[in-house]
This record gives sequence, structure tokens and C-alpha cells, in this order.
Amino acid sequence: MKFVVTAGPTREPIDPIRFLSNRSSGKMGYAIASAAIEEGHEVILISGPVALSPPVAARVIQVTTSDEMYEAVHGALAKTDVLVMCAAVADYKPAATAKEKIKKRDEALSLELVPTRDILKSLPKTRDYFVVGFAAETDDVEKHAREKLRHKNCNMIVANDVSDSASGMESDENAVTIFLGDGEMKKISRAPKEKIARALVKIILETSKRF
Ligand code: PMT
Repeated sequence: MKFVVTAGPTREPIDPIRFLSNRSSGKMGYAIASAAIEEGHEVILISGPVALSPPVAARVIQVTTSDEMYEAVHGALAKTDVLVMCAAVADYKPAATAKEKIKKRDEALSLELVPTRDILKSLPKTRDYFVVGFAAETDDVEKHAREKLRHKNCNMIVANDVSDSASGMESDENAVTIFLGDGEMKKISRAPKEKIARALVKIILETSKRF
């Protein structure tokens, strides 16, 4: 099977030297790419800026901004059986990028932000590949994850509680709850991200056969 996996953060430029981003390290997405390769699948890894070495067998597409990730995902979809959107894509970006470094002044500075294009929402409803979204939540994890499953038109959503510094973003471990379109729910309890990724790839493969 052919997997497209996204990983890491995006960076949304404010001026030539500043950007908006988040704490995603890419560990979860890279672990999923490695687990899929271990199982004999082909992987295109679309990665935001991270400090990790990608799995040797993956075809890697490096991106920086949410717009670049949007184009890279759409460009890879023709060759996809499974899309796993593990990247922490920015929801907002500056309305304009200053051409020169914004100078320090004594008064407050406001930055106008506009929504980025939502990659999952932009996918066609009728398609022949299986779509796994992630939900990074700090509260009401199940409620928000189920909403994202519906509104973002995913076949499966993998929720993680990112309010716990011992799992989720940046950490080596995670704990996830998987929500499927038919209402089914599965939990993978706290473990190293490599172990979570192997279990996740198995569940994705089993579930995508029924899709
Ligand atoms: O990278 P690590 O440090 O290992 O951390 C892993 C992780 C916590 C980043 C990962 O497990 C995770 O939860 N990834 C999704 C983070 C996120 O952006 O979640 P969200 O709830 O804001 O977005 C929901 C889904 O929409 C995600 O699949 C996201 O990729 C997608 N999205 C978001 C914005 C956008 N413009 N387009 C999108 O498709």
C-alpha cells in the first residue's frame, strides 16, 4: 500500500526572520512513517521543519508553510491509499508578511491573522484513499475529536491530549483514542511513540479494508 504521512509543525512567516509555529517535534509522524515502512508499505513523508532524520526508505518532501504543505499533500494524493495527517498545521497565519524586519517600537504591536486553508476539509468527499486525521486537544477530548471526525471529513481520527507534557507534543510517549466514522472507539494506552505508531498502522490497515 502507499502511505502519505505528514509530520511536524508549519511555520507562518511574520517578516524575514520571525514566524508563528507550534511545539510539534515530528516524532509521532516520523514514527508512523517508520512503522508503515517496517510493514512493507511505500511512504511519502511530508515534513515541516523538525530536527529528526527521516526513515531511509521514505520519499521525503520538506515544506515550511501551511500553503506548501497543502500543495504537497494535494500533489501526492494521486499515489495514495492512506493519508495520515499527523502534522500540526497552523490554523492561522499573518494576513501579510513584512518584506523587512519589523522594527521595535515603544507602543503595542497588533498582528492581523487570517485562517489557513484546511487541508483535510479541502479533500474530495468521494475518493479512493483512506483518510486519518489527528486531533490535538487540551479539553473535552472526545467531544472535539468527534466534531473534527465529522467536520473534517475523515474516515478515522486519532485524538491525543496535548495538555499533558508527559505525552503528546514533543514528548517521546503518547496515548491516543481512535474514533471511527461508524461510532467505534479504540484506545492505545501510554507508550513510546514507536509502539503507538505500530499499533496505529495495524488498526489503519484493518479498518481501511472495510472502507
Ligand atoms: O510532533 P510531535 O511532537 O510528536 O507531536 C505529535 C502531535 C501532538 C503533533 C500529533 O500527535 C497530533 O496531534 N497532530 C495533529 C496536530 C493538530 O494540528 O491538530 P488539530 O486538532 O489542530 O487539527 C486537526 C487535524 O486537521 C489534523 O490532522 C491536522 O493535520 C489537520 N489540519 C489542521 C489545520 C489545517 N490548516 N489543515 C489541516 O488539515
